Amino acid sequence: MTLEFVESMKNLKVRNDDVFLVTYPKSGTIWTQQILSLITSEGHRNGTEKINTNERVPWLEFPQLNENIDHNSRPSPRMFVSHLSEAFVPRELKNKKGKVIYVMRNPKDVMKSFYHFQDIAVLAEKSPNFDHFFEKFLDGEVYAGKWFDHVRGWYTHKNDYNILFLKYEDMIKDLRSTVKKVCSFLGIKLDDEAMDIVVKKASFKEMKNDPLANKDNMPEDLIDKKLGSFMRKGQVGDWKNLMTVAQNETFDKIFQEKMGDLSLNFTWQIS
Ligand code: A3P
Repeated sequence: MTLEFVESMKNLKVRNDDVFLVTYPKSGTIWTQQILSLITSEGHRNGTEKINTNERVPWLEFPQLNENIDHNSRPSPRMFVSHLSEAFVPRELKNKKGKVIYVMRNPKDVMKSFYHFQDIAVLAEKSPNFDHFFEKFLDGEVYAGKWFDHVRGWYTHKNDYNILFLKYEDMIKDLRSTVKKVCSFLGIKLDDEAMDIVVKKASFKEMKNDPLANKDNMPEDLIDKKLGSFMRKGQVGDWKNLMTVAQNETFDKIFQEKMGDLSLNFTWQIS
């Protein structure tokens, strides 16, 4: 990704039937990529797919992951995935052209997931321990910047977009309802049998065993498979296994300061 390329994407011609999936990293991106491709393609649902998630829902800002794909010459309907902040996405989206699905996750679990992800992400700068990463995450010195700014940017501009917000924790609690919500947002009707298949194929277990869905076949110069996987635990509340009481208090205080004025409620744990 270059800044120049990201800048050029601001001027991308958006089509009415475009769908942009946007997330802060570690919030359920590959999960929702899988859900979207299952909903929109019967072929994928029936297990006839031979293509990776990244090809089914290509990255807006990483064309090199798709052999330098030219988004302008892609056939409709197009789907995109992006980690970009609200200020950097194609401007035409603001005219409510196209659709945006924004997935968010309790930031403590995002942080925990991110901490482990730096081990397998070959190009990531590694923190020697969690204390170090905790500070880095709060300061936004990780890819995609501050979680608080990312979520705040998208949430406070929600009226500018044709946007659906999803929460990772709701997906864990009731995936079927989430799939129904996405279908209704996209104007797609699935019969009960198709819905059953989507929910099954988007489950953690199925995705963990499907290299085309779980990114296990990403290039070795990007992901070191020996050290872990995108499909790590898939749980709500795993932060409790890492954060100290003091870190948790610090986090809650900062969360309150930065996000307290927004009506955003997160499920911090499921006991
Ligand atoms: P953990 O590291 O907490 O396990 P992203 O795709 O944005 O990088 O997010 C990765 C996180 O989503 C990982 O969280 C991963 O396990 C979780 N995830 C991916 N697919 C999932 C699924 N089908 N069900 C539940 N969690 C899933």
